[in-house]
Amino acid sequence: MRLAQGLLILTLLSQCSFGPALATAVRPGTTEQLINAYAPRDATCPTVPLVRPATNISTLENQYINARKTKANAALAAWLKKVNAGFSTSILPVLGLTHSGGGYRALLNAAGNMQAMDSRDSNSSIGGLYQAITYQTALSGGAWFLSSLAASNWATVSLLQKTIYDSTIPAGLLFPVEPNVFSIVPNYAQIVADIGAKQAAGSPVTLVDVYGRLLGYNLFNSSDGGVDHTMSGLTSMSNFSSHSVPYPILTSIGTDSNSTCTVSLNATQFEFSPYEFGSWDSGTNAFVQTAYLSSNLTNGMAISKKCTTGLDNLGFITGTSSDFFAGACDSQFVPTGMLNALAAALQSVVVKAAGTGGDELLATYRNPFYGSSHSPLVSHSEDLYLADGGASFQIQPIWPLIQPLRNVSVLIVGDCYGNTSSYYPGNISISYTYAQAQANNLVKMPFIPTSAVFIAQNLTSRTQFFGCDEPDTVTIVWLPLVPYIKTASNVDWYDLQVSEDDIASVITNGNLVATQGNDEEWPLCLACAFMKKTGPILPSGCVACFTKYCYAPTA
Ligand SMILES: *[C@@H]1O[C@H](CO)[C@@H](O)[C@H](O)[C@H]1NC(C)=O
Ligand SMILES: *[C@@H]1O[C@H](CO)[C@@H](O)[C@H](O)[C@H]1NC(C)=O
Ligand SMILES: *[C@@H]1O[C@H](CO)[C@@H](O)[C@H](O)[C@H]1NC(C)=O
Ligand SMILES: *[C@@H]1O[C@H](CO)[C@@H](O)[C@H](O)[C@H]1NC(C)=O
Ligand SMILES: *[C@@H]1O[C@H](CO)[C@@H](O)[C@H](O)[C@H]1NC(C)=O
Ligand SMILES: *[C@@H]1O[C@H](CO)[C@@H](O)[C@H](O)[C@H]1NC(C)=O
Ligand SMILES: *[C@@H]1O[C@H](CO)[C@@H](O)[C@H](O)[C@H]1NC(C)=O
Ligand SMILES: *[C@@H]1O[C@H](CO)[C@@H](O)[C@H](O)[C@H]1NC(C)=O
Ligand SMILES: *[C@@H]1O[C@H](CO)[C@@H](O)[C@H](O)[C@H]1NC(C)=O
Ligand SMILES: *[C@@H]1O[C@H](CO)[C@@H](O)[C@H](O)[C@H]1NC(C)=O
Ligand SMILES: *[C@@H]1O[C@H](CO)[C@@H](O)[C@H](O)[C@H]1NC(C)=O
Repeated sequence: MRLAQGLLILTLLSQCSFGPALATAVRPGTTEQLINAYAPRDATCPTVPLVRPATNISTLENQYINARKTKANAALAAWLKKVNAGFSTSILPVLGLTHSGGGYRALLNAAGNMQAMDSRDSNSSIGGLYQAITYQTALSGGAWFLSSLAASNWATVSLLQKTIYDSTIPAGLLFPVEPNVFSIVPNYAQIVADIGAKQAAGSPVTLVDVYGRLLGYNLFNSSDGGVDHTMSGLTSMSNFSSHSVPYPILTSIGTDSNSTCTVSLNATQFEFSPYEFGSWDSGTNAFVQTAYLSSNLTNGMAISKKCTTGLDNLGFITGTSSDFFAGACDSQFVPTGMLNALAAALQSVVVKAAGTGGDELLATYRNPFYGSSHSPLVSHSEDLYLADGGASFQIQPIWPLIQPLRNVSVLIVGDCYGNTSSYYPGNISISYTYAQAQANNLVKMPFIPTSAVFIAQNLTSRTQFFGCDEPDTVTIVWLPLVPYIKTASNVDWYDLQVSEDDIASVITNGNLVATQGNDEEWPLCLACAFMKKTGPILPSGCVACFTKYCYAPTA
C-alpha cells in the first residue's frame, strides 16, 4: 500500500537534518553560488509603499479588472444571445467563479466544472462561460486546481488531465513524480534541501513547507516540482498579461495564535492574489504586495531598506490554503486515521529538522503587518499563522467576492458538499459564510438557511439560486457536487491518491454538474440568474426558472 510506503520514507527522512550549508551550492566548475529556488532573496525595496490600508481595491487590480471586464462582457453578451435573443446586453453583471475545498475530489470537480464552461475545451451548452468570468477564487482542494491551472498559463483541463493529473494523482500526494513520467520518482532529498535553504535564510519553516513542495510536484508541470512558480510571478504569464483569464485569488484563514486548536468561526479571512496579500477584515484591514509578502517590515516600512522576495512560492501558498492539519485536534475534521498519520509523518520530518514547537502544523509567514496601525488584531505578532478555511467551516472562498468594492453581481459556486460521502456531514459551508458575513456587516451575502434547514428540506444536493429577491446582494448559483456518474462517488475528500479511471469519472461528473446533466433548460435558467438584477427585461421563460431554482425561505 502506497501510504505505508510513503510513511516509511518520511520516517527515514526524519533522520536527516536541514543544514545551513544547503542554502546555496556552488555551480560545478565555477565559483558561482547557486541560490536554491525555494530560498528567499534580498531585493531592492520598491519606492512605493509595500503595505496599504484596505480602503479600496489596488490600482493594479483595478486596471486588470477594467481590461478583463471588456473581454468578459463580449463573451457574456455572445453567450446570452446564443441562449435567448430576448436578453438585453446593454448592462452586464460581473461574474465570479468559486471552488470549494475537498481534496483531490474538489480539484477534479472544479476541473470538470471549468471544462464544461471553457469554449476551448467543450461544446456544451454553457461553453464560453469561462471566458465571461471576471474573478476566480479557490480554497484548499479547489486551490490545488486553480494554482495548477494558473501555473500552466491557463492550459485546458484536457491538457492538464493528460499531461499532469493522470501521472501525478494516481501516484498520490506523498509521491512526487514528474508529470508525464509514469513512474514514481521520489524527490524527497530535494524537498529537504529546499526547506533547509529557506530556513537557513532566516525564514520560519513548518510542516506546510514540506506539504507545499509535495503539492508542487503534484500540480505543476516541471521536473523540479515547479519550485520557481510564485504567486506574484503569475503576472508574467501571457494569458494574465493579456487579461484573457479571470483574476485569480486563493484564500486562507488566520489563527489567533500559534496553537493549532484555536481556529474560531470568526477567524480572519486572508486572500492571496498575484498583486496583493492581506485581509479586508477589521482586525487586519491591510494589504501587502505579494512579491514582498514576507519582507521584514515594521509599520509597513522595510527595516534598513532591505526587502525580501521569493517567499510567495505558489506551492507553499497552495499548501497554506489547504493546510487541513490545523483540524487535527478536532475529530470532526479527521474522519480517518489517515490524515493523522500523514500529519504525524510530515511533522516528524519538520519537528526533527527544524526544531519547531507548537506552531509546526500552521503555515507561518513573517507578519507584513507587524507594528501596523491599520491592523490592531495582528500588529503585535511577528509571524502570521495561516490554515485551511475548512478549519473554521469556510470551505467556500466567497469572502473576497462579497467585498462591496469589487462590485461582483453573480457568483457561480462549485461546492464539493454533496451527499456522496462523508465530507463534513451536516455542515453546509455557505451557511457559516452567511453567519460570518452578517457578523461583519457584509450585506452583499444573500440569506442562506442553516445546515439543519438544508437537511430537513432535502436541499443538500439540489442546485439553487440564493438572493434572487434581495436587490442589494450578489446572486449565488450554488452547484453542489452530486454523482451523475456512479463511480464519481468512489473518490472521497481525504483520499491521498486517485486512479486514472476515477480521475476521468470525477472530471466528467464535474462537467455534468455544471450542465445539470445536459439539461436543455439549464442554460436559459442560468442566464436568467445572471441577468435577474441587471437586465431591464428578461425573456418570459425566466419565470419558470426562478420558480424552480430560487430558494424561498418558508414562512
Ligand atoms: C477606488 O479606486 C478606483 C480606481 O483606482 C477609483 O476610481 C475609486 O474612486 C476608488 N474608490 C474609493 C472609494 O476610493
Ligand atoms: C457595478 O456593476 C454594475 C453592473 O452590474 C455597473 O452598472 C456599475 O457601474 C458598477 N459599478 C462600479 C462602481 O463599477
Ligand atoms: C466541438 O465541435 C467541433 C465541430 O464539430 C469539433 O471540431 C471540436 O473538436 C469539438 N470540441 C470539443 C472540445 O469537443
Ligand atoms: C507539460 O509539459 C509537457 C512537456 O513540455 C507538454 O507537452 C505539456 O503540454 C505540458 N502540459 C501543460 C498542462 O502545460
Ligand atoms: C492562453 O494563451 C494561449 C496562447 O495565446 C491561447 O491559445 C489560449 O487560448 C489562452 N487561454 C485562455 C484561457 O484564453
Ligand atoms: C473572534 O471573536 C472573539 C470573541 O469575541 C474575539 O476575541 C476574537 O478577537 C475574534 N477573532 C477575530 C479574528 O476577529
Ligand atoms: C527583522 O528586523 C528586526 C528588527 O530590526 C530584527 O531584530 C530581525 O533580526 C530582523 N529579521 C530578519 C530575518 O532579518
Ligand atoms: C507560541 O506562542 C507562545 C505564546 O505566545 C510562545 O510562548 C511560544 O514560544 C510560541 N511558539 C513558537 C514556536 O513560536
Ligand atoms: C444523505 O442521503 C441519505 C439517504 O439518501 C439521507 O438519509 C441523509 O440524511 C442525507 N444526508 C445529508 C447530510 O443530506
Ligand atoms: C457540524 O455538523 C455536526 C453534525 O454532523 C454537528 O454536530 C456540529 O455541531 C456542526 N458544527 C457546527 C460548528 O455547527
Ligand atoms: C432529495 O432530493 C434529491 C435531489 O433533489 C432527490 O433525488 C431525492 O429523492 C430527495 N429525497 C427526498 C427524501 O425527498
